[in-house]
Amino acid sequence: MYEEFMRLAAERYSVRRFDGRSVERPVIEKILRAGQLAPTGCNNQPQRILVIDAPESLEKLRRCTKCHFDAPAALLVCHDREACWKRPYDGKLSGDIDASIVATHMMLAAAALGVGTTWVMHFIPEAVRQEFSLPERLEPTALLVMGYPAGDAAPYPGHLTRRELEETVFYNEL
Ligand SMILES: Cc1cc2nc3c(=O)[nH]c(=O)nc-3n(C[C@H](O)[C@H](O)[C@H](O)COP(=O)(O)O)c2cc1C
Repeated sequence: MYEEFMRLAAERYSVRRFDGRSVERPVIEKILRAGQLAPTGCNNQPQRILVIDAPESLEKLRRCTKCHFDAPAALLVCHDREACWKRPYDGKLSGDIDASIVATHMMLAAAALGVGTTWVMHFIPEAVRQEFSLPERLEPTALLVMGYPAGDAAPYPGHLTRRELEETVFYNEL
């Protein structure tokens, strides 16, 4: 199981070139089900996900980000500020973290289904809010643009560049 997971994690890369096919709703549903299994603070499940796959919605998306990569579908992963867990000591909200874990589950599930994604943070929050009529309490955390990778899609050269564990992991003291 570990080897399988590692293969999936290693093979996933940000896909920024898609073929013309749309992502079928049952496939999107499978991806959403993986997000549903994600852990969230206090199990509050504050994620609210907008599936964007209609031509007019994709047109709206283009007005929100240049990182749409002409994808045939996208998931806008938001969190409800009023539904997420709040740490009592400093008031920190779990929403962005919860939504990110949900998005990560979905990103990996998509890869397992042969659907390419790119996590996009480079969007204009106000444009998203306006185009998709987000209520005030919803905060967009991540946009997963997705589609079937084009025949010539490939990881960008830096994809496999990862820092050594020694640079990022510390045992017992920093
Ligand atoms: C929080 C976050 C924000 C990101 N925002 C963008 C973005 O706005 N546009 C983009 O093209 N890629 C974006 N990416 C993708 C990263 O650039 C990419 O994951 C990273 O370079 C590693 O490459 P890989 O996904 O191919 O392994 C983002 C990734 C994360 C996790």
